[in-house]
Amino acid sequence: MDAEPVIQIRNLSKVYRDFWGRKKVEALNSLSLEVRRGEIFGLLGPNGSGKTTTIKLLLGLLFPTDGEVTVLGRPAHDVSKNERIGYLPEESYLYRFLNADETLEFYGRLFNMSSAERKQRRDQLIERVGLQHARRRQLKEYSKGMTRRIGLAQALINDPELVLLDEPTSGLDPLGTSDMKEMIRNLRDQGKTVVMCSHLLADVQDVCDRIAILYQGELKVLGGVHELLEARDETELLTSSLSEEAIKDVESVLQKHGASLQRVAHPKSTLEELFLRTVKESKERPGRRFTPEEKPAAAEAAK
Ligand SMILES: Nc1ncnc2c1ncn2[C@@H]1O[C@H](COP(=O)(O)OP(=O)(O)OP(=O)(O)O)[C@@H](O)[C@H]1O
Ligand SMILES: [Mg+2]
Repeated sequence: MDAEPVIQIRNLSKVYRDFWGRKKVEALNSLSLEVRRGEIFGLLGPNGSGKTTTIKLLLGLLFPTDGEVTVLGRPAHDVSKNERIGYLPEESYLYRFLNADETLEFYGRLFNMSSAERKQRRDQLIERVGLQHARRRQLKEYSKGMTRRIGLAQALINDPELVLLDEPTSGLDPLGTSDMKEMIRNLRDQGKTVVMCSHLLADVQDVCDRIAILYQGELKVLGGVHELLEARDETELLTSSLSEEAIKDVESVLQKHGASLQRVAHPKSTLEELFLRTVKESKERPGRRFTPEEKPAAAEAAK
């Protein structure tokens, strides 16, 4: 993928100083990377490695100590470009006494949208984040996951080209996580560019095209998720269930080719799949409960 860069970061450094201008923390050290149009880019790293700092620098909320940042063809400090950016911060900052409708109405007005446009966008987003049932409840009554959902709707109110998501799946249940991942993929399908930070590596692996790993403000790894994770010195074959005899035959064929059979097992479905299926079935068949005589659901899943 050689699409044009939406974000260009060159030799970016950020030192946080204390009240007297003394150097306190070197949060980023000569970071260089590009994010291309239409990709989902994951920013990973341990706590305090500089992910949130990077996002704030992209938005022009912080000034760099050194280096250059261009976002959507504009310098990061030009905040007018932020009209084309959606941002879901790490911490919720929404007004607790507004309900979901009022929240989106408020942010729609900030972007000078017409009343008809605001209403249409509001209805569409509330449905997209699955909050129809709670749209008239004040946000102070929302659970963590519901707050994350309304935060995403707020971030998308201006139909942004670039979406910056700081920990989008934190606090979400597996169903919410799965919805959020689906929504992030949909953004890519619409041609948007997404940058997300997350500690939930399985989520990052599921949705991101490319990732960067930061450690103490330095870039340690950059590349495509598939390329980085592919074990090129091994081959995986998936077949229908094999008898003992068939496995022996396969082994002898492999020997003929100078290869060895390393592991024979039935594939396992993931806990995420099991959880999602259980919730779906519970919705479809409300009164049903688990009884000890029942076969484990995972065995059903492997079929
Ligand atoms: N306003 C601030 N003043 C001083 N130091 C700060 C400030 N904000 C962040 N830092 C420091 O900068 C470093 C990077 O912080 P940052 O919030 O970017 O990390 P992060 O990768 O987002 O971490 P986490 O995974 O915990 O969210 C940390 O050492 C942090 O203490
Ligand atoms: Mg952070």
